[in-house]
Amino acid sequence: ITIHLWAPDGAETTLQAREGESLMQAAVAANVPWIAADCGGMLTCATCHVYVREPFAARLPAPQADELAMLEFAAAERRPTSRLSCQVELTRELDGLAVDLPETQY
Ligand code: FES
Repeated sequence: ITIHLWAPDGAETTLQAREGESLMQAAVAANVPWIAADCGGMLTCATCHVYVREPFAARLPAPQADELAMLEFAAAERRPTSRLSCQVELTRELDGLAVDLPETQY
């Protein structure tokens, strides 16, 4: 599964990830800056906040209540396409996934 991430300065990172891992795990394994993921995917930090581009945002399962609650704590502006990347499970449908990284996670 190919993933494209854009940093706030416009720099693009492309990485390959495995089906079944989370977007956060794939990004951390590739040392992508701007994804801190302090809690390691326990849904208690909101430092793995990303903006998922369409049409991919619409393909994701809707966020669960606990993800929505944690998004309240995201440091950067929250948008309709805001997600916590530790809750985004990578599937074949998401091949080519395009994600913008927020200005800050703190
Ligand atoms: Fe902490 Fe996603 S890694 S909420």
